[in-house]
Amino acid sequence: MSRILSAVAWPYANGPRHIGHVAGFGIPSDVFSRYMRMAGHDVLMVSGTDEHGTPILVQADKEGVSPQALADRYNRVIAEDLTALGLSYDLFTRTTTRNHYAVVQEMFRTVHKNGYMIERTTKGAVSPSTGRTLPDRYIEGTCPICGYDGARGDQCDNCGNQLDAIELINPKSKINGETPKFVESEHFFLDLPAFVDALGDWLRTRTEWRPNVLKFSLNLLDDVRPRAMTRDIDWGIPVPLDGWEQNPTKRLYVWFDAVIGYLSASIEWARRSGDPDAWRQWWNDPEALSYYFMGKDNITFHSQIWPAELLGYDGKGSRGGEPGAYGALNLPTEVVSSEFLNVEGKQFSTSRGVVILVRDMLARYQPDALRYYISVAGPETQDVDFTWSEFKRRTNDELVAGWGNLVNRTASMVHKNFGEIPAPGHRLPVDEALTAEITTAFGRVGELVGAHRQRQALQEAMRVVTEANRYVSETEPWKLKTDPERLATVLHTTTQAVSDLNTLLAPFLPHSAQQVHEALGGTGTFSPQPRIEEVTDLDDDSRHYPVITGDYTSVRGTWQPKAVVPGTKVDKPTPIFTKLDDAIVEEELERLRQP
Ligand code: MF3
Ligand code: ZN
Repeated sequence: MSRILSAVAWPYANGPRHIGHVAGFGIPSDVFSRYMRMAGHDVLMVSGTDEHGTPILVQADKEGVSPQALADRYNRVIAEDLTALGLSYDLFTRTTTRNHYAVVQEMFRTVHKNGYMIERTTKGAVSPSTGRTLPDRYIEGTCPICGYDGARGDQCDNCGNQLDAIELINPKSKINGETPKFVESEHFFLDLPAFVDALGDWLRTRTEWRPNVLKFSLNLLDDVRPRAMTRDIDWGIPVPLDGWEQNPTKRLYVWFDAVIGYLSASIEWARRSGDPDAWRQWWNDPEALSYYFMGKDNITFHSQIWPAELLGYDGKGSRGGEPGAYGALNLPTEVVSSEFLNVEGKQFSTSRGVVILVRDMLARYQPDALRYYISVAGPETQDVDFTWSEFKRRTNDELVAGWGNLVNRTASMVHKNFGEIPAPGHRLPVDEALTAEITTAFGRVGELVGAHRQRQALQEAMRVVTEANRYVSETEPWKLKTDPERLATVLHTTTQAVSDLNTLLAPFLPHSAQQVHEALGGTGTFSPQPRIEEVTDLDDDSRHYPVITGDYTSVRGTWQPKAVVPGTKVDKPTPIFTKLDDAIVEEELERLRQP
């Protein structure tokens, strides 16, 4: 048994999320966490909404509300959508809790005390027409490194390098096109060069990572400079130092605080669980494992900035130092980054209406249909395209005609012939072969999910579904009316196969797993689901917010075949998966054309 932290990227609370987001961080982290619990591990899965920074400010301006009101609105929308998708967080919280503020400030103070925060005067961008500071990401220009002309002031999306706005060639404000003025301002910089050796030593031991992610992370070390961790902005966490804390226009940079959410959410979870130190088992014990799930635009922050913050906190950079009150904290075991999902050949773009919102998708289709598509054909190691025709094909040919059909015909034949699961008679080699195939699949599918190869894992499970369907076609139970003993053996074997395949598929298809369990006469919770709970801020009675949480302990150690019980009553089944009409493809394409 291992302790496993599933650290899931924090979506910005500046709007509803689209299916590209959940393909990157959501579904893969949930499949992994559900499998690991079933395999007997003690999983802590945490995340929340990311509520600071300019993305929130700009959208709040647009909607004419305060940043906090905007964050409140979308925190709830996002929490509801992720719950409906069945993402089994132990705690999904937010970055505007008092707990998060306190944890972030403790991290800053210790990293500062250990000497890794350098105070420097820099030139910050100001809008000449309004006099307000211009956030880096609202400045666009030519990348000084690769020459791409749509680089932002914080990062170039073409070459992936981090930038400072002042380095851009021909910078322009994205808000009104004017050329920003650069004026002097005091900031704290995280001394990244002091961590280059430690980061390199750590990364070179990370041989299991996806090659792209590891290579990208190692390359980042070739050009490391101190990075500003404060901003001239009035929305964010105050800098916990004299002279700074009271200054309303100096705040910590959103990325400094957001990644600390993994730790603060673990602490919040522990405080809410009644054992305030429980989080330490995932953070202080060097044997504990931690997996961070995100899209590829987040790699830098998880394989460089966050590890540097942790090393600074632990006192393990070139300047040494001592850990703060939380003790020495673990670095990530693995940064599990996925690539991008496109839609009908285009990049998702909320502003251009090229978007499929999770909410809209779930209003029209089953959550497990989306989970299936993303798991079997998602952007695991390369960019992939979501198309409606492929969604329809996979749903109808694989989920409905493959797995759904197996479940349905098994339950109906059992119901019609016996009304209950029959006891087997003498088993023939063909029966033993199917059972053996499924037993082996537990090992194979489990290993693949553990290695973040979910596409292959699901394909393997579905291959065995095909085998089970072939077993039914070959043994022809409908022709066995005159041989009740053989009929009982075949239907027992088939029921056992469906039950075990349902266990194998449960991490991918948790909603239908519960229905299949019930279709075979099972009772109680087979596949636990998350729920929304309304809570009060632990450190401020006047603040209330929804969190996602759940009790998933019942699945611990269930990743193995489990004998079905002869005599269990089986009712006439109703189909579990909905077949999609050909017309949905045109309808959905039309929606994409006219959002
Ligand atoms: N909010 C950021 C984004 O959507 C992701 C932050 S992941 C975090 O790109 F861990 F840093 F919060
Ligand atoms: Zn570039």
